[in-house]
Amino acid sequence: MTLRTPEMDEMALRAVRVLRDRLEKRTAVIGVIGLGYVGLPLALACCKPGFTVIGFDIDSAKVEVLNRGESPIKHIPSEPVASARAAGQFEASADFHRLNEPDALMICVPTPLGAHREPDLGFVEATTRSIAARLRPGQLVILESTTYPGTTREVLKPILEASGLQCGIDFFLAYSPEREDPGNSEYDTARIPKIVAGDGEAASVLAQTLYNHVVARTVPVSNLDTAEAVKITENIFRAVNIALVNELKMVYAAMGIDIFEVIDAAKTKPFGFMPFYPGPGLGGHCIPIDPFYLTWKAREFHISTRFIELAGEVNAAMPRYVVERLRCELDCRFGKGLNGTRILIVGVAYKKNVDDLRESPALEIIKLLDAMGAKIDYHDPFFPVIPPTREYPDLAGKASVPLEPYLIARYDAALIVTDHSGVDYDQLLEYAKLVVDTRHVIPPTHPQAAIIARA
Ligand SMILES: NC(=O)c1ccc[n+]([C@@H]2O[C@H](COP(=O)([O-])OP(=O)(O)OC[C@H]3O[C@@H](n4cnc5c(N)ncnc54)[C@H](O)[C@@H]3O)[C@@H](O)[C@H]2O)c1
Repeated sequence: MTLRTPEMDEMALRAVRVLRDRLEKRTAVIGVIGLGYVGLPLALACCKPGFTVIGFDIDSAKVEVLNRGESPIKHIPSEPVASARAAGQFEASADFHRLNEPDALMICVPTPLGAHREPDLGFVEATTRSIAARLRPGQLVILESTTYPGTTREVLKPILEASGLQCGIDFFLAYSPEREDPGNSEYDTARIPKIVAGDGEAASVLAQTLYNHVVARTVPVSNLDTAEAVKITENIFRAVNIALVNELKMVYAAMGIDIFEVIDAAKTKPFGFMPFYPGPGLGGHCIPIDPFYLTWKAREFHISTRFIELAGEVNAAMPRYVVERLRCELDCRFGKGLNGTRILIVGVAYKKNVDDLRESPALEIIKLLDAMGAKIDYHDPFFPVIPPTREYPDLAGKASVPLEPYLIARYDAALIVTDHSGVDYDQLLEYAKLVVDTRHVIPPTHPQAAIIARA
């Protein structure tokens, strides 16, 4: 442990004052590292109150697109990128030598799972090492990526301090989890309250000073580990509750009860009930992954996280359940098996109105159907072509088919996996022989109800 001298305290105080002043006056330069679904909206939200932002990304193609004033993400319009560029407020860069330019750095890189469902902090560690190589006194470093409690303190801090600079004296370290909900027009980055914690009081105050300009409200918590636990708790809460309604869906379906009608009625209770909706399986970079970060960390404390594991099992079984429901409907209605049957998958993105395919249950459903001999096409306005993915390499290059009446009529069944808004469901119902709806996008009162099945 390094002993603190009065000179060190004085140095830290001076650094805090300078940075706080720059943050208060919005003359500070903000660096956002990782310009994806989280980092890009955050960078744009920092431009709004007047900060100058440098966005860093290893993807030089993305950097080029952004510097042309265009958005590389479909649900994020180009206009705010173009106006931030025109105002000289935003620049994207793949040059990590420039990491010493910003006064505050926000890390928004991926935190996936490894091959054995263990946390893969490779992106976070690589980014932290790049920062450490250029770290200068007076910088504030904030991790935004979702991770297990202890990451900022145990992983980031030692890497940054290996630069020779001391945390809390020369530089400041904070954690503020990202709560971005891509495609949610009601709650954009600026409207979502932000949890903030610092490694020490100074870092906490600095991070709050920054975010107070960017978001409607900051919610300080006492330390880094707690802030990390808040985010992971939120996502575990979703995963467990979605698993519960998925389980109820299967029970009620067997009883002839519509789970959506049950939930819609139950949510009229003004207290003690919060609606969650069943679906074809979990998707995206958060809910299917983050809970297992805690499961992994809990092992260090000899605690098994049975709820989380069980929720994972139920949710992971959903694609198979959907395929089984489709198989039953084909069999009961037309006496057909899946082998040789033509199936149209409607929507492959993991959720409505986003161009994000990560962990999408549609891919697993296609794989299962393919293994059973079904002939599959898909329609998704957000994915004209399926890009390469690690787990489903065979699907790369497959192209979306148009939803033309004569084409729809050729399929034995259409399976709605993602409920994008722009899809003409009435037309689909007019020409399809059977529609299996996993999202409740078609109301049970629809005139074509006879050809609709739920899964
Ligand atoms: N997507 C969401 O809805 C969401 C919501 C809340 C929190 N999160 C969390 O935010 C984090 C980022 O997720 P995302 O969805 O934005 O990921 P993303 O894949 O959309 O974006 C990550 C970006 O980081 C870049 N990158 C990777 N390694 C880098 C490096 N070493 N240096 C610089 N850039 C690098 C990638 O090129 C990519 O552009 C994750 O921890 C995730 O769990 C995501």
